[in-house]
Order: sequence, then structure tokens, then C-alpha cells
Amino acid sequence: MDNTPRILVFAGSARKESLNRKLAAAAHQMIQDAGGVSTLLDAAEVSLPLYNQDLEENGLPEEALRLKKIFAEHDALLIASPEYNSSITPFLKNLIDWVSRPTEGEEMTAQFRGKVAGLVSASPSGLGGMRALVHVRDILGNIGVLVIPEQKAIPNAFDVFDEEGKIQDENVVKGVRTVVESLVASTQKLKG
Ligand SMILES: Cc1cc2nc3c(=O)[nH]c(=O)nc-3n(C[C@H](O)[C@H](O)[C@H](O)COP(=O)(O)O)c2cc1C
Repeated sequence: MDNTPRILVFAGSARKESLNRKLAAAAHQMIQDAGGVSTLLDAAEVSLPLYNQDLEENGLPEEALRLKKIFAEHDALLIASPEYNSSITPFLKNLIDWVSRPTEGEEMTAQFRGKVAGLVSASPSGLGGMRALVHVRDILGNIGVLVIPEQKAIPNAFDVFDEEGKIQDENVVKGVRTVVESLVASTQKLKG
């Protein structure tokens, strides 16, 4: 059986110049270098309404179904999460909430249970978004995701990416690569 980990990478921000979208793109490349199969889900192409249970009256919206299918095709998640008021962004929480919703006959949070996740963050501040990662880790853990202990929060991130979105600082590259390599190895082990 092919046990190459299939990893879904995305950012918790849809902003045009998002630092975390750049970080997700960099991690996507590193996953492939580490022997994983990576899909980069562009947050800017996600168009989910703000979650409201009334919107499920006639079944889940097409966009939620599309995302659930993409999640189902992957073994692991690599999330680049910004920090808003020391926590998760509404964009990321909304995405998690929609994907967690079951279709008929399906268990709640089926697209999360048994998956592995790695977390990274980028912020212009000195803490690099690490307070958000505490909350993202907690949320994912509570819906059955095994979040690996390695994580990387990148402070002063406006100075870290060049025009093409490439990470300029070798120590930062090393930190993100540590997360990626651990995610690939952990997922591979769990897949047997
Ligand atoms: C509503 C709001 C709250 C924010 N709160 C924090 C914060 O608590 N900590 C932090 O490091 N940055 C905070 N920021 C700044 C973000 O880190 C910054 O806008 C960053 O670029 C967002 O990520 P992105 O570039 O991927 O969109 C906040 C920004 C917004 C809009």
C-alpha cells in the first residue's frame, strides 16, 4: 500500500498580501521536498458564508461540500494561521466549522478525526502569532486531530518574505522545515 502522506496546506487568511498565504506556499514546497504529496488550497478561492445553522436547511452549500471532499482526500493538514486578538481568525474558524458539518448519515467532524496536523504562523508582531496556535491546537485536538508538538511562529514577518514570497531567513526556513518533516514522518507512521 502506498503510504506517502497526502497533506492539505492552507492559510487562515484570504487577504491578497497575506503573510500566512506566503507561508503556506513555502510549506507546500517543503512538503514535496520532504517526500509528501501536498495540495495547496488557496484561501483566496474559498467562498464560504459566515456559518449559520439555518443555511443547512436544504443541505450543505456547494462550497462546503467541495471543501469536505478535498479534506477527505488528505491524511494531514498544514495550517498557516494568523493571530487576531491573540486567537484564531474568523476565516479559519468558519472554514473549520463548515467542514466539520456532517452530510446525511455521516459522523460529525468526520473530515478531521484521525488526521494529523502541523501548525505555523506569521505575524508582524514580536510573538509571531504563537498565541493563536494555542487555540488552533485546542480546537483541532477536540475534533479528533492529532496535532504534532513541533510548531513555528514567525515574528516580524514583514521582513521575512521577499517579493516572490520566498523566506529570506535561514533560521525561519529551518523552523518551518522541522514542522514539515515531523508532519510527513508522523503521518507516514500512522498510515503504517
Ligand atoms: C482584527 C485584528 C486583530 C489582530 N490581532 C493581532 C494579535 O493579537 N497578534 C498579532 O500578532 N497580530 C495581530 N494582528 C495583526 C496581524 O498579525 C496581521 O494583520 C497579519 O498580517 C495577518 O495575517 P495575514 O498577513 O496572513 O493576513 C491583528 C490584525 C487584525 C486585523
